Amino acid sequence: MCGIIGVTGARDACARLVAGLELLEYRGYDSAGVAVCDRVSGDLFRARVAEHGGSVERLSGRVADAPEDPGAAIGHTRWATHGRPTEENAHPHLDCTGRIALVHNGIIENHRELAAGLDGRGHKRTSQTDSEVLVHLVEESAAAGASLTESVRRCLSVVRGDFAIAVVSAAEPEVIVAARRTSPLIVGVAASVGIVASDVAAALATTRELYALGEDEVATVRPGTVEVAALDGSRVSPRRVEVSWSVQRALKGGYPDFMSKEIHEQPQAVRDTLLGRVDASGRTEIEELAIPDEELASVERVQLLACGSSYHAALAARQAVERWARLPAEADVASEFRHRSAVVGPRTLAVAVSQSGETVDSLHAMREASRAGARVVALTNVVDSVMAREADGIMYTRAGPEIGVASTKSHLAQLALLDLLALHLGRVRGAISGEELAEAAGALLSLHEAVETAVGRGDAYRAVAERFAHVEDVYFLGRRSGLPVAYEGALKLKELAYVRAEAYPAGEMKHGPISLVEPGVLVVVVATRTTLWEKVMANVEEMRARGATVLAVADDGDEETERLVDAVLPVPHVAEACSAVVNVVPLQFLAYTVARARGNDVDRPRNLAKVVTVE
Ligand code: M6R
Repeated sequence: MCGIIGVTGARDACARLVAGLELLEYRGYDSAGVAVCDRVSGDLFRARVAEHGGSVERLSGRVADAPEDPGAAIGHTRWATHGRPTEENAHPHLDCTGRIALVHNGIIENHRELAAGLDGRGHKRTSQTDSEVLVHLVEESAAAGASLTESVRRCLSVVRGDFAIAVVSAAEPEVIVAARRTSPLIVGVAASVGIVASDVAAALATTRELYALGEDEVATVRPGTVEVAALDGSRVSPRRVEVSWSVQRALKGGYPDFMSKEIHEQPQAVRDTLLGRVDASGRTEIEELAIPDEELASVERVQLLACGSSYHAALAARQAVERWARLPAEADVASEFRHRSAVVGPRTLAVAVSQSGETVDSLHAMREASRAGARVVALTNVVDSVMAREADGIMYTRAGPEIGVASTKSHLAQLALLDLLALHLGRVRGAISGEELAEAAGALLSLHEAVETAVGRGDAYRAVAERFAHVEDVYFLGRRSGLPVAYEGALKLKELAYVRAEAYPAGEMKHGPISLVEPGVLVVVVATRTTLWEKVMANVEEMRARGATVLAVADDGDEETERLVDAVLPVPHVAEACSAVVNVVPLQFLAYTVARARGNDVDRPRNLAKVVTVE
């Protein structure tokens, strides 16, 4: 998590840092800070603020005191891992001389050992972070006469863990040294400006000439130039980043918050994601997949890996792969996968699902699957993300930048694209008839219209949701296609409204959790018309008999369901196989409404960050 931005060669460097930090705030918002080299005095200016959700705004007032003739400048927005979210733990961190400043994203695993050595050599550390050791290590080499670039290289050679860093020194006031391992970082140039950023959105206002740093590469960024080298100092040609969207797509565009904007972009996200990849006859084509059909046809099992909402998409995909491709499929939480003795081999297709393409748990799980011999596909929303670069094949959702911490449009796009992958596998394996293929393709192609209808009912969903704004204890139930939707609905309510919500297979309640059901409990159930509808409604009866209030996601015009529950969230009927894409929409509005009614910041819920780059 954590956002990094650096600019050199611009008179308005501080304004650019603040604008970049505003765009990066979604990565973490516990505190923020900047460090700016003063080209006139030769000093280093630093300002830091720790205020949940308001740090960047307050920081923009503090940079009024920054040097008028700035040289290299770096900024950071933090999601606390080591050390509480206080000003002293905010980045940039300074060395003992106050002339070198460093920002870091990631975790330094051997920081205790390094800190003990530094303390023994007389360094004065002022924070509880793992990051601070880095700047003192750089200081030691710089004091011995090494350049900033060489000092960073030496520092990183003794570090274990994940990092993206940017470092400036008053001794070389126009230089930013940037480096990465696992955590992403890009560098770029424009005329006489150089830039460093942890993601493309923050750099776009300055330039579209951007380069992705590779593992263990160190960049020396000067006004208008970038040099990249490996840790041993050998020169490397940086790889250009393809930028397919404009900075406007990462702005709120008139909506009160990013979450509303992104919910409204869902029909387009679904349509764009499927565009050109499937036609009405069922011909499927996934251009970046880069794994030949013959090889896909020989796959014996599919292993899906993901976290959070992406994991819920993976759960839905498991059903789609079994249904259409007739292949055994498993979906694992990425952070667990690498620690169990999963049986994965050359005939396994591992699909790592991640909006950001950076989630470190998913990245490690993907690497683990690859080590075990699986062919690995990254299904991600971020072009050129770390996972996209490391995988054998790529599938991009085309949802555009997602800034709200809660996944919405990227989740729907994942569901649609995973359905398409399942169909594609079914087609190349000959596991699905032409008729079934055309039927499924037709359902996929019209999905965006159903999503549009559902999104267009936002006000009606909100009106229903307001009746439940006071809830404290909620179960989300579903069966088969409804279960991943229930999981996602519960996650949304938890993360945004801070309400205890648990998702369960509806038929499993009677094996234990039903003992918790009593008057005052809200049960949200996915009760659209599938072949399991009667069983779902029998489970609903069990809940109502114990006093629960029941809110159902139900098909339009389904009066019978309406009579059997306390309230409904109606959705347009679509084929069950792709129904998760539509059925999750009212649950997004439910979470949004309850969160807003409680005064919560839906874009920046407490304790969370959009991109989770720590284990
Ligand atoms: O970028 P990823 O899809 O890998 O992120 C995974 C989760 O961190 C993410 O889905 C998280 O659960 C969201 N906040 C859910 O809304």
